[in-house]
Amino acid sequence: MTVHFIGAGPGAPDLITLRGRDLIATCPVCLYAGSLIPQAMLGWCPPGARIVDTAPLALDAIIAEMEAAHRAGQDVARLHSGDLSIWSATAEQMRRLDARAIPYTVTPGVPAFAAAAAALKRELTLPGVAQSLVLTRTSGRASAMPEKETLATFAASGATLAIHLSIHAIEQVAAELTPFYGADCPVAVVFRATWPDETVLRGDLAGIAAQVRASALERTALILVGPALGSADFGESALYSIDYDRRFRPRGGA
Ligand SMILES: C[S@@+](CC[C@H](N)C(=O)[O-])C[C@H]1O[C@@H](n2cnc3c(N)ncnc32)[C@H](O)[C@@H]1O
Repeated sequence: MTVHFIGAGPGAPDLITLRGRDLIATCPVCLYAGSLIPQAMLGWCPPGARIVDTAPLALDAIIAEMEAAHRAGQDVARLHSGDLSIWSATAEQMRRLDARAIPYTVTPGVPAFAAAAAALKRELTLPGVAQSLVLTRTSGRASAMPEKETLATFAASGATLAIHLSIHAIEQVAAELTPFYGADCPVAVVFRATWPDETVLRGDLAGIAAQVRASALERTALILVGPALGSADFGESALYSIDYDRRFRPRGGA
């Protein structure tokens, strides 16, 4: 028996990996993390599968589901949105499974920041403009930020920022970033990337908060900030330059 933690991607059912989809189809138990998992994925569960929405459950109750499946010798598909390496609350589940010697696997998924960049049709790292991407958030009810992980600290680098779980604090985010990036720095807010009601707002630090409030959109949004979001003035990667000597394309080759 194995618990399979699966990154279910940002929302569109066809953005899960083939491995994730195939695992769902083999597991007689499916535990899924609430409304961010599309219903279509649950249709891949085998007939008669036990399918449980864990949104209303406390951690102990979720682990109890896994223990019951373990006793019954039934594999579990454990679905979380996006990828599992960021804000998935899987670490605490894995720690408890380790303590109980219940085996598990981890299958990666498409993270929301990648889906948002795709919605914008933007590369978040541009030569000479930004070569780093910071995945961060602001403090929430469930998790305080470590003292040194402030927006100002990350903003000082000038990197592209992908700010999660923070749309409710858009005014504060814009105010804290403006001294570093300038009021005219491009910002994009992507609501529910890849879902049928995906919505994109584009603006600058001076105006984005008002745009968000006017839209009345509230949840499941990513805030992307940085010059890479607006720049058409960037260098080209040397990798594809005709003068760059590559192993598979000698200098001067086509
Ligand atoms: C608990 S975190 C989960 C992140 C997820 N593990 C990932 O890999 O992206 C939830 C936050 O991710 C962002 N998010 C998740 N899905 C999204 C989507 N489809 N569109 C925009 N933002 C999304 C939002 O900032 C949301 O508040």
